[in-house]
Amino acid sequence: MDRRPNFLVALALLVLSCVGAVKGESSAGCGKTPTITGKQYSMTNRPYRLVFTWHQLGGSAQKIVDGKDTSRGGALPYYGLNAIANNSAIFVVPQGLNAGWGNQGGEDVTFFDQLAKTVAADVCVDTRLRFSTGFSYGGAMSYALACARPKDIRAVAVISGSQLSGCTGGNDPVAYYGQHGTSDSVLNVSRGRQLRDRFVRNNGCTAVSETQPSGGRSVKTVYQGCNPGYPVTWKDGSVIFAPKNTWDFFTQFS
Ligand SMILES: *[C@@H]1O[C@H](CO)[C@@H](O)[C@H](O)[C@H]1NC(C)=O
Ligand SMILES: *[C@@H]1O[C@H](CO)[C@@H](O)[C@H](O)[C@H]1NC(C)=O
Repeated sequence: MDRRPNFLVALALLVLSCVGAVKGESSAGCGKTPTITGKQYSMTNRPYRLVFTWHQLGGSAQKIVDGKDTSRGGALPYYGLNAIANNSAIFVVPQGLNAGWGNQGGEDVTFFDQLAKTVAADVCVDTRLRFSTGFSYGGAMSYALACARPKDIRAVAVISGSQLSGCTGGNDPVAYYGQHGTSDSVLNVSRGRQLRDRFVRNNGCTAVSETQPSGGRSVKTVYQGCNPGYPVTWKDGSVIFAPKNTWDFFTQFS
């Protein structure tokens, strides 16, 4: 983290002790008082999901926390997830070099590795329940992690993404939720579908012919035939559907 010490760990809950979190893979932070500070709300003994929320180009960690990104993708705090997470998740909100995720030489994936390690050492997380999401560049970064760190990420939600942060590896399955507006003029929908199709293949799902919604209609496709534990869901349509769909997708895993 030498070049980029900026990140926020939003403790959507206070993890004073996690002695009850015997299920899953408890991290080293279990049973200790966290020293990373953030918002603290309540304490429970449930295992905590960890959700990485990557900002869009020109965004910032603070804007994700405040829900103040100018475009609709970041218009709700924590991409709208904290509001529906019912204190079951800890959000990690990183901040990119040059306000993006160019991932030159894999530097942003390395940053993720360091963040994941730092957080796991300090707060109580279930290391099997780590997720990643973001809008646009943040979606690209989530995709890059699905490619490069399939063992570390249980599922991604790539919202209006494109291959902007690379894809090292990219041969292993990761549960994949993707969503893209069909009239997106910045990153067209074909670019989002291209990312999705890698995980349709990797996850062993049956490819389907494209549904092309018209007149602003939204179409959700749940792929069939995927290997157990590696679903793929795709939605053509507006970003306003992202929080609920993302959360439903992430919480199918336990
Ligand atoms: C929120 O979590 C608490 C504690 O696990 C649970 O009792 C409650 O039913 C949950 N509320 C909703 C709306 O899911
Ligand atoms: C989508 O964008 C890519 C990259 O800019 C471009 O090559 C491609 O032709 C576009 N596809 C459509 C259907 O507009």
